[in-house]
Amino acid sequence: MSYWKRRWDRHLDGLQDDDPCRQVGRTLHQQPMGATMFRSMLARVVDQLELQPDHRVLDLCCGNGLLSTEIAAHCRSVLAVDFSHELIKQMAAQRRLNVTAIVADAVNVCFRPASFDRILVAAAVQQFTEPEVIRLFERMASWLKPGGILLVTDVLDSERIWRFYDTEQRRGLYFEQTMAGAPILGTWINRTWLRHLACHAGFEQCVPMEQPSSYWYSHYRFDFVCRRRTRHMARG
Ligand SMILES: C[S@@+](CC[C@H](N)C(=O)[O-])C[C@H]1O[C@@H](n2cnc3c(N)ncnc32)[C@H](O)[C@@H]1O
Repeated sequence: MSYWKRRWDRHLDGLQDDDPCRQVGRTLHQQPMGATMFRSMLARVVDQLELQPDHRVLDLCCGNGLLSTEIAAHCRSVLAVDFSHELIKQMAAQRRLNVTAIVADAVNVCFRPASFDRILVAAAVQQFTEPEVIRLFERMASWLKPGGILLVTDVLDSERIWRFYDTEQRRGLYFEQTMAGAPILGTWINRTWLRHLACHAGFEQCVPMEQPSSYWYSHYRFDFVCRRRTRHMARG
């Protein structure tokens, strides 16, 4: 079982309440994200995905479906995928007719080419190694229809890593945990690296975006949007 799968299983075992934001780690100093910030974040996602009523959307690493169930109101269907049974079970309770939820590992899940108009990977890309991110982008490009949009949110910004690890104690912990193969937040990514990767994988209009400064994690995370090229050599 992968490190992140174990981490999520442990996180869910240890939860004292069923606050949906807490379930997926949307917290600061152990306080779950409030409704205002969540609504603002959701509005940005809907806007950046340019959702249309006939769109089929893949929400990869969907957690408990906090976003999947909301964006379903703006499109034809959402396929929500996560490797946590427990989180997928939470989503099932919400019964949105146009949301299908499946338990699968994004590292090896497969879809037919051009199955989706939009793909969302929210607050999860940090849980893949660099080689996995490369492969994932190649596969997501093939799953998207030409002109389809990929939105990746909350990318850990490698150029601002020390804004997060901002004390000697935190930096110490970071080095120890990284050495132990048990990273605290996950993989930190360079914006230019991600732009080049997206171009390599078959995307265009690749744009890293700042988050509003009022967002809790905006000082060390960014969002990333790109569009699948219309003439594209699928990589499988
Ligand atoms: C921080 S949560 C974000 C959940 C959701 N996207 C959201 O924004 O509310 C990260 C999610 O990624 C999932 N995840 C991490 N690695 C995964 C993988 N390889 N395959 C499927 N899900 C994965 C975890 O189970 C967790 O639900």
